[in-house]
Amino acid sequence: MSERIDLAALPHDFLWGTATSAYQIEGAVAEDGRSPSIWDTFSHTPGKIDNDDHGDVACDHYHRWREDIGLMRRLGTNAYRLSVAWPRVVPGGDGPVNPKGLAFYDELVDGLLEAGITPSVTLYHWDLPQALQDRGGWPERETAEHFAAYASVVAERLGDRVTHWTTLNEPLCSAWIGHLEGKMAPGLTDLTAAVRASYHLLLGHGLAAQAIRAAAPDAEVGIVNNLSTVHAASDRPEDLAAARRMDGHTNRWWLDPVHGRGFPADMREVYGVELPEKPGDMETIAAPLDWLGLNYYFPATVADDPEGPAPRALAVRKPDVPRTGMDWEIDASGIETLLLRLTHEYAPRKLYVTENGSSFPDVVRPDGTVDDPERQDYLIRHLAACASAARKGAPLAGYFAWSLLDNFEWAYGYDKRFGLVHVDYRTQVRTIKGTGHRYADIVRTHRGRSSRAA
Ligand code: FCB
Repeated sequence: MSERIDLAALPHDFLWGTATSAYQIEGAVAEDGRSPSIWDTFSHTPGKIDNDDHGDVACDHYHRWREDIGLMRRLGTNAYRLSVAWPRVVPGGDGPVNPKGLAFYDELVDGLLEAGITPSVTLYHWDLPQALQDRGGWPERETAEHFAAYASVVAERLGDRVTHWTTLNEPLCSAWIGHLEGKMAPGLTDLTAAVRASYHLLLGHGLAAQAIRAAAPDAEVGIVNNLSTVHAASDRPEDLAAARRMDGHTNRWWLDPVHGRGFPADMREVYGVELPEKPGDMETIAAPLDWLGLNYYFPATVADDPEGPAPRALAVRKPDVPRTGMDWEIDASGIETLLLRLTHEYAPRKLYVTENGSSFPDVVRPDGTVDDPERQDYLIRHLAACASAARKGAPLAGYFAWSLLDNFEWAYGYDKRFGLVHVDYRTQVRTIKGTGHRYADIVRTHRGRSSRAA
């Protein structure tokens, strides 16, 4: 491995974590009072998911969470990013709370703390209760209000033990991929619905941030965005303008409003959709944050697409560049660029890499091991780039590898494996991959040197 990770650049109390989300791992979709979410509906609609896979069983984490905490212990990680399923806790979307749903997360949090692992709790990783979708979903304002009420329920229950809170995971995917491209739940292709959804998602974020803080005064609240570096396919002015639009669509639309700058004027013009704004909303959306989360996977290269859908920028496939099993281009410099951009343009108090990882078609060898050198290389390069950003001043406080386990990769189903741990879906046997062992070595080295330094 040519890259060296400058571990000394990372703070001694760095959070070394893994990440998952509820629908991708839990299974038990009809147990203990959970109601269907938009992802249950979408994944059971024929043709939406590769192989018509769905999350009914997934990694059966709902029953195997103790074993999964055992895996985290073996990795030596000191943090874990999980998401709470809204349809377990408030099955109707609003209204009665389901005690069994809350009890599951309560026990999980206790189990993590007993293992010395800091829980980092995300309230929304895309699993909107179907009952709320039936009433219009995120394009409607009431969804933002119900989200805050649900956030308050969870924070009241867990806030005595959980300090790390995320309101939304990747609202871009909910709004743009779910309502504009139709490739994720709820599967719409409607620009007006998408822009309204984006607005209410960020309003819901602001309202939920208030609700969490009211219930848990020590809470550290942040939002998680998946950002991309955006390159123009050529120096033509049209392509440069397309890259600027794609940057607005992917990055600025999500960052500017929460930092008090409003929704970017150029993008409002590109979308041409009136925002459902009410007095005071922009202040709610811009509630000061304790940290920002970055999910980074790949860079984008785009060309002008004058007749295409908003933002009229077409992704161009670069030839001869390394790619993961998702066909995503590998460019570790992008994570450093984005961490430094966030630092300089938005001045966050703290930054976390809340997801980063790669999918490759892993197999368990006859000797029971999983050798995944390409994933190891991806991990090392990206960690080295993170350390470099920290050395240059990014207030990076933690890194969460996506993912702890192979899991239900949304529209791609189970064929795409991102885990540090391999899952055999037939037997539910878990096997730590080579990259998991490598990550454990890195974590041990850094934590060892930090405890010596402390
Ligand atoms: C992110 C999602 C996460 C996972 C990774 C690969 O966009 O937040 O759930 O699917 O991509």
